[in-house]
Amino acid sequence: LKVFTGNSNPALAHEICGHLGIDLSPLQISRFSNDNLFVQIQENVRERDVFVVQPFTEPVSEHIMELLITLDALRSASARRITAVIPYYSYARSDKKDAPRISIAGKLIADLLQTAGANRVLTMDLHADQVHGFFNIPVDHLTAVPLIADYFKANYDLSRMVAVATDAGGAKRAGRFSERLNIPLAIIDKRRVSDTQVKQGHVVGDVKDMDAVIFEDEISTGGTLMSTVKTLQQAGVRSIHVGAVHPVLCGPAITNLREADISSLVVTNTVYLPEQKQLEKITQLSVASLMAEAI
Ligand code: R5P
Repeated sequence: LKVFTGNSNPALAHEICGHLGIDLSPLQISRFSNDNLFVQIQENVRERDVFVVQPFTEPVSEHIMELLITLDALRSASARRITAVIPYYSYARSDKKDAPRISIAGKLIADLLQTAGANRVLTMDLHADQVHGFFNIPVDHLTAVPLIADYFKANYDLSRMVAVATDAGGAKRAGRFSERLNIPLAIIDKRRVSDTQVKQGHVVGDVKDMDAVIFEDEISTGGTLMSTVKTLQQAGVRSIHVGAVHPVLCGPAITNLREADISSLVVTNTVYLPEQKQLEKITQLSVASLMAEAI
């Protein structure tokens, strides 16, 4: 068994190896003068079971190319089985044809992974469960919902807590979170206006004088979060917390989070957070042991 990493989250790969009791295997990724990527596997992988850790984080296209070329290099080097470990599969958000003449890129990338040499994919909390079906190879779809829920159970008073889904699409996931904590669930009616803006309507469920925990698969620009905080405040909540699996935190997210009237944000480390994104209100839980167990 050998574990390699690209450049998107080496810290997580190291942690996974720590749980497995092995060292990370060496890989060289560099660039030619013309900007082409060069990848070389730096030890023998013949007939080995190999894993490549590479969540799709910014710069996403770059990290996807790194992974594809690494998978191809491993296949050429006669690895027996190759698993792409993609804790955050960003293209899961491109899962339907909701405008004319567009690509369902989530499916395209799934095909490319297989073409490049992946025999199996290990991922976590896909934006929509059915994206699993885009892959023609086995997929282990893990979830961090219990990890985050158990953190809330251990650290918060749940007596007046209500889980909140920011839209109907997220209701299933937030529902699993609320069930684990045995707390009620509220759902907000949401329409996406643009990449960074959403519009919300009614809150379905009782949130007045309650401690709300907004539960999300990811916080990307924080646009949904800002809108949800406003909607919940108008509905009379007592306090607001957030649980989310993937802290993408791109664009205006950090500014939004600083301003947002939320007491805490509990996320995982599927996405690496550089120091400038580590706000005091953010707690990052590690998914390394879950990943290691699945490996
Ligand atoms: C939306 O359907 C997702 O569950 C999240 O609400 C969304 O991806 C968050 O994006 P943003 O932070 O940019 O609003």
